[in-house]
Amino acid sequence: MSPKVELKHVTKKYESLVALNDLNLTINDGEYLTLLGPTGSGKTTTLLLIAGLIQPDKGGEIYIDDVPVNDISTENRNIGFVFARYALFPHLDVVDNLIFSPRVKGENLEESRKSAREMLELMVLSGRGDALPKELSGGMKQRVALARTLMSGAKLLLLDEPLGALDARIRMALRKELRKIVKDLKITAIHATNDITEAFLISDRVAILREGTLIQIGTPAEVYEKPRNIFVANFLSDTNFFGGIVKSVDIQKKSALLVLEGELRAKTNKTSKPENFRIVLGVRAEDIQIKPRFSMDEPNHFHGEVESSKFISGTNRYEVILENKGLVIIRVKASKEWFEEGDRVTISFHPRETLLFDYPEEGLEKALELE
Ligand SMILES: Nc1ncnc2c1ncn2[C@@H]1O[C@H](COP(=O)(O)OP(=O)(O)OP(=O)(O)O)[C@@H](O)[C@H]1O
Ligand SMILES: [Mg+2]
Repeated sequence: MSPKVELKHVTKKYESLVALNDLNLTINDGEYLTLLGPTGSGKTTTLLLIAGLIQPDKGGEIYIDDVPVNDISTENRNIGFVFARYALFPHLDVVDNLIFSPRVKGENLEESRKSAREMLELMVLSGRGDALPKELSGGMKQRVALARTLMSGAKLLLLDEPLGALDARIRMALRKELRKIVKDLKITAIHATNDITEAFLISDRVAILREGTLIQIGTPAEVYEKPRNIFVANFLSDTNFFGGIVKSVDIQKKSALLVLEGELRAKTNKTSKPENFRIVLGVRAEDIQIKPRFSMDEPNHFHGEVESSKFISGTNRYEVILENKGLVIIRVKASKEWFEEGDRVTISFHPRETLLFDYPEEGLEKALELE
């Protein structure tokens, strides 16, 4: 069995700054959970609290396997962690760093060395076993720290941007390996990152934080398909937002058709938005079609002019200025036709490919801020 971790009403303030605000979170036995959020959202703070390196404010409780650990020191929580600032033993070579913990525990040294060599192969570090930490690059040191933690035998792993300093190719390979090792060894892993792709590829569930508050938790598919608010939608993928008022609700079968001011239509299962209700409609950049200008008097079709057009790893990304409707971002597969700056175009989207949100109390602009 691997540990279950629970945080109950955990708040952490630094003077007037609320780094973490009444966090309630359960990480299940054997789960791979990522804490995902922009910089300053409280990810590292959460990991430091679980590790016992800082203490929650009064009233907050942390449990590991149903045991309150507030009064248990870091050493006795039996946690492996990889923090960006956590250094290797500088006087030990790579292999000795890796077998440090097995050695302390009195495990068979020959076998430990053998697993260390296997681990180094996995980390693309074969042949560097004799190197001292100062002879390694930043990315190599990070991989050694990760390997050492994986070899420590801890059943609870805390990882703070463990793949952050690595080059793109190694990072991709290690994401897969890291998840596989965690699952094979039946470890509970809590991983902080601001890289959405990484979080989606590696996790069972993702917890999305903003300014110290947990906004949403769910599987990658759940949070992507049903973002709780416009911050999550915007953070997870390039999304265009239009504010409006519900003009009429037309119930057809199980769904409702909402007509917004400016003739935007959205299909929804939620019939709870009454007429005159203020809402925001979101359309993801990849759900918008772009065509040479054509005459069309249907809802969800708009005329505009291409303001910028870029090719980014297999996709064309356009910014189109709409007549009276501001700017939209569009992403289409690069095999389709190409538009130049200044081209007059018509853009459209299907009512089904829309997300509906209540209009945020704090205002649209503030709700979309990523920092
Ligand atoms: N020791 C400290 N003293 C004062 N403020 C702190 C301290 N540690 C963190 N903070 C503040 O708490 C907030 C949360 O910080 P935290 O390091 O948890 O963010 P993060 O999500 O890990 O961000 P990043 O992605 O940049 O690592 C930030 O506003 C930060 O400035
Ligand atoms: Mg951090």
